[in-house]
Amino acid sequence: MNEDRVVSGMRPTGRLHLGHYHGAIKNWANLQHKYECFFFVADWHALTTNYHSTELIEQDTYDMLVDWFASGVSPSSATVFVQSKVPEHAELHVLLSMITPLSWLERVPTYKDTIKRLQDRDLNTYGFLGYPVLQAADILMYRGGRVPVGADQVAHVELTREIARTFNFTFGRGHQWESVAQKAVERLPKKLRQQYRSVQRKFVEAGNSEGIERIRAQLLEQHYLNEDERERLLGYLEGVGRVLLPEPEVLLTETATLPGLDGEKMSKSYNNTIYLREEPNKLEQKIRKMQTDPARVRRHDPGDPEKCPTYSLHKIYSKPDTLDWVTQGCTSAGIGCLDCKGPLIDALQIEQKVFRRRAEPYLEDAQLVRHVVQEGSENARTVAKETLEDVKSAIGINFR
Ligand code: TRP
Ligand code: SF4
Repeated sequence: MNEDRVVSGMRPTGRLHLGHYHGAIKNWANLQHKYECFFFVADWHALTTNYHSTELIEQDTYDMLVDWFASGVSPSSATVFVQSKVPEHAELHVLLSMITPLSWLERVPTYKDTIKRLQDRDLNTYGFLGYPVLQAADILMYRGGRVPVGADQVAHVELTREIARTFNFTFGRGHQWESVAQKAVERLPKKLRQQYRSVQRKFVEAGNSEGIERIRAQLLEQHYLNEDERERLLGYLEGVGRVLLPEPEVLLTETATLPGLDGEKMSKSYNNTIYLREEPNKLEQKIRKMQTDPARVRRHDPGDPEKCPTYSLHKIYSKPDTLDWVTQGCTSAGIGCLDCKGPLIDALQIEQKVFRRRAEPYLEDAQLVRHVVQEGSENARTVAKETLEDVKSAIGINFR
């Protein structure tokens, strides 16, 4: 179990805007210093809803990666890769698909919602129904990872947990699991052996977990047992097998939706975005035109910052004394909206400079992002191959 691992993916959306940054990527950049992180571009997931227009996937992938790096995600801290460059994800997907009941997939909330929302797409495919199984493979591949996602993805991680549980139950016992476990029990000292059998019987037959903890503690003290025997004895005690694929945890990213220039949610499809690397003049123009409290028609009309999308950005970018100045000036009509936007523009320009500086090496050398992702994908494959070795051995199709 790797509680210190984090895994998350994002579909290739091309250039990122501040909504992506504050909603997810900023958080990733922080996590990479605390955990061993695996971040990937989910290009196969893009195909599940978009197989009829694939011409932009590669460019969108590279553009998005440059913006991840601009945001501070660093290939020297995190393993950054492209899903399709780690084909082991597909292999695990096939294996997990064997044990996933159809009804679980049909009742995933995003399944029906997306079909309703994207009526112009053909979502009547096997690939789209299997979307969450692919996501489960992405996650379980890195065994025990925590998964930073927004609320919309929680159901997928829940399903991943159920798939892991079913998988462990089905294959965690292996061929001779029981007889090998029995042999390990025989080797325990007589007194412990008797206690083990009685506690196990009570638990398996009557669900009585009394004594389990005590036996567990004693097993940990038997130093002559090797790792495999101990794990087996612990699992056998409760009638379960080995935990081949540990269940992941959600790391919920809680963020208020970032308003776009028109006050609606910031989104490429609404054409109301501020990109991560805007031209400075363009950025200034965008903010100058950004929606404010509609009550401020004239300069002397007072306003209410809570009704103003520009103020939502101020809350992210400005210090408390600036926020006080805004509130005071806005509600008394002491400042105009352009005055108010001045310090916000400055703060955004400073941040944009940092984004641009981090992106610079990738813009100077277009091959760099390709190299970085190649190396990240190879590193991810090393881990993925280990998982698959275990998984295939447990199923009994490793052919060695
Ligand atoms: N389904 C996710 C989304 O649309 C992307 C994704 C694919 C993902 N695989 C993942 C997220 C694994 C977290 C972990 O945003
Ligand atoms: Fe919004 Fe500032 Fe104008 Fe008030 S003064 S409406 S907070 S932009």
